[in-house]
Amino acid sequence: MRILVTGGAGFIGQNFVRYLQARRPDHSIVNLDKLTYAADREFVEAPAAGPGYQFVQEDICRLEKVREIARGVDAIVNFAAETHVDRSILDPGSFIQTDVYGTFALLEVVRELGIRRFVQVSTDEVYGSTEGGAFSEASPLNPSNPYSASKAAGDLMAFAYWRTHRLPVLVTRSSNNFGPYQYPEKVIPLFITNALDDLPLPLYGDGRHVRDWLYVMDNCAAIDLVLHRGREGEVYNIGGGHELPNIELTRRVLALLGKPESLIRHVADRPGHDRRYALDCRKLHALGWRPTHAFDDALAETVRWYQDHEAWWRPRKAGAFQEYYRRQYGELA
Ligand code: NAD
Ligand code: TYD
Repeated sequence: MRILVTGGAGFIGQNFVRYLQARRPDHSIVNLDKLTYAADREFVEAPAAGPGYQFVQEDICRLEKVREIARGVDAIVNFAAETHVDRSILDPGSFIQTDVYGTFALLEVVRELGIRRFVQVSTDEVYGSTEGGAFSEASPLNPSNPYSASKAAGDLMAFAYWRTHRLPVLVTRSSNNFGPYQYPEKVIPLFITNALDDLPLPLYGDGRHVRDWLYVMDNCAAIDLVLHRGREGEVYNIGGGHELPNIELTRRVLALLGKPESLIRHVADRPGHDRRYALDCRKLHALGWRPTHAFDDALAETVRWYQDHEAWWRPRKAGAFQEYYRRQYGELA
């Protein structure tokens, strides 16, 4: 199988490329990524990628270019997106462009070239917030912020192409991922790296918002399963099954680092902050997937990874990130 991975220089995308290289050596991979601020340039420049692997710097919105690159591929797995909720509140334009228009451009390429499989990597955030119970794949979409609204629009466009053109579309909606190579704007790597520097950890609102945590390699295994065995025209929820209020997550990170809870700083809440995400994943369980990484072990391993890879994260928190940090966290920066 020849697979076009879009956004394969980002956090989940590069973990997915590694997963495929390890588990499916018979597949060849084209990694297409625009290389935005969130991309990992070192990963795409690494010679270790090996035969059957090719990287192309390109924007998924440039349909004609993507069509050329996609000629001869059997499947597309679309990770390419603007992904950070807080940035979508500050600057939504690029989210609409990439997450909506970019998804449309890929769907057009799939249609024109007759590509056999299109996996749209989406998020539980499209369902919005729930105080009780869990969202199934049939739950209505009710996104709260420009990021989740743009992802929901991408999902709807994918299903419009399935219904109209019978395009072989599959959508995965996963809960919050964590693990190595996550850009340090997201809460886990931000809090680990701030704590390592004895900087305050900005906890939004009362800190009682709940997220369901999924280790990135479990998500990669699930996406691989959906790519190979999922049914066209279907959505698959991918949840870690490990819900935690943010304050509890923060305490665990601090405990793993041996840092004091006095580093926690309650700051103004995120506007439109979703209270809780929770997924019913029985459909994917029926396909044979379960998370295999215990949350506590995976979190400890992730903390260790950031401790051991200061040379990876420190430059990512310098330069333009500092400007973003000042804009986002004002009084703390
Ligand atoms: P990320 O921000 O770490 O990486 C995104 C990648 O996409 C970057 O390498 C970036 O350069 C690339 N990109 C952005 N715009 C592009 C464009 N126009 N053309 C080509 N490439 C472009 O994101 P991530 O956390 O790895 O998320 C990957 C996917 O998974 C996204 O679609 C996201 O919505 C989804 N998702 C993420 C999470 C999570 O917890 N991180 C949870 C559920 C779903
Ligand atoms: P985040 O990692 O941005 O993921 P998402 O918004 O996609 O769930 O945030 C995870 C949770 O952590 C969310 O409830 C918001 C909260 N959070 C903070 O309290 N402080 C922060 O500085 C950040 C980035 C997030």
